[in-house]
Amino acid sequence: MTDNHPLILIVDDNPVNIDLLLNILKGEYRFGVAKNGTKALEYLEQNKPDLILLDVMMPEIDGFEVCTKLKADHRFTDIEVIFITALSDAKYIAQGFEIGAVDYITKPFKAAEVKARVQTHMTMKKMKEALNKQNILLEDQVKIKTAQLQEMFNATVGGMALMAESRDPYTAGHQQRVAQFACDIAKNMELPADQIEAIRIAGVLHDIGKIRTPVSILNRPGKLLKAEWELIKTHPVVGYKILKQIPFPRPIAEIVYQHHERIDGSGYPRGLKEDGILLEAKILAVADVIEAISSHRPYRPALPMDSAINEVKRHRGTLFDKNVVNSFLNSALKDHWKIQRAAGPTGTEPAQDDDEPEMFSATDSNLHPTIEN
Ligand SMILES: [Fe+2]
Ligand SMILES: [Fe+2]
Repeated sequence: MTDNHPLILIVDDNPVNIDLLLNILKGEYRFGVAKNGTKALEYLEQNKPDLILLDVMMPEIDGFEVCTKLKADHRFTDIEVIFITALSDAKYIAQGFEIGAVDYITKPFKAAEVKARVQTHMTMKKMKEALNKQNILLEDQVKIKTAQLQEMFNATVGGMALMAESRDPYTAGHQQRVAQFACDIAKNMELPADQIEAIRIAGVLHDIGKIRTPVSILNRPGKLLKAEWELIKTHPVVGYKILKQIPFPRPIAEIVYQHHERIDGSGYPRGLKEDGILLEAKILAVADVIEAISSHRPYRPALPMDSAINEVKRHRGTLFDKNVVNSFLNSALKDHWKIQRAAGPTGTEPAQDDDEPEMFSATDSNLHPTIEN
C-alpha cells in the first residue's frame, strides 16, 4: 500500500470491532490502530491520518474528549472524525456533531453503510483540499496581476507627467517633487494610506493641464501678457478634464482642479474657500508653492528654501490651510526638504539670500512675474 492511499485511524477499546472495521475497509486505505483515547492522541503526535473512526465509550479519555482536544489543536482540526458507537440516543448524536465530527454511525453497523460513509467523506475531503489549493493558486495569481496592474498604472501616471513636463524643461521633475513634499506632509498629518496615495497621484499629475499651454509661454523669461497669464490659469481645468476620464478610486481629477484654490477665496479657477476645498488640494497647494519658490524658473532664479518656508508661514490661515502649514512647520520636514533641495538637480540650486529678487509672492499664483496688460 503506497503513501498515496488515505490513512485511517481506528480508535476502539474492543479488538473485535477493530478487526471488523479493518475487514470492511481493507484494500483502499492504510490504517493506524489505537485501543484507547490516550493511545490515539499519542499516535497523532507521529502520524497525520485523513480520517479517524472513533469509539465513544472507552476507559479514561472517552471519544468525545479526544475529539474536543483534536478540534482545539490547530495541527489536527482538518482531520475528519466519524464516531462509531453504541450510544444511539439523539442527544449523543447531536453532541458528536457539535464538537466537530463529520458523521456519526451507531453500532451495530452494516458493512456497506460504513464503507459508503467513509468513502463519501474521503471524497469530500479530497474535493475540499483541491478547492483550497485552487483558492491559494487564485489568490497568488490575483496578487501577481494586481502588482502588474499597479506597476502599469504607476508607469502610465509617470508617463503622463513626463509628457507634460517634457515641454517645459524648467519645471522638469516639479510634479514628482511636489508629490513627494505633499506625501511627506500627509504622512506627518497621519492621513490614511489610500488618501496619501491619492495625494501622490494628484501631485504627480497636478500640472498636466499645462500640456495645452504653448511652450513659448511656459518658457518665457520675461513678463507675460494678461491674456497669456489667463491662458496659464486654465491648466487646472484642462487637467481636470483630462483626468476625469480616468476612473481613479479617489477624486484625483477634483484635487488637481483645486490645487490653485486658496482658502480665502483668492485662488483660481473657481475661487473656492475653506471647506469647499479638499484637504488633499490644500496639502498640494502648500507643497506646490514651496517647490516652485525653491526652484529655478525662466523668469527668476531659485530662491532659498527659507524664503519658501517664510512665504508659506506668512500666509498661514489666509491663503493656506493652518493645519497643513502647522504640520509642515512643526516637523522635521522642513529641515529634510532643505537638505533635499540643497542637493537638488541641476537648475534648482537655491540663490544666495542677497540674490533674492524683490518680486515674488505666493499670492501671485505659480509665482510668475508681474503681468503686463
Ligand atoms: Fe499648477
Ligand atoms: Fe505646480
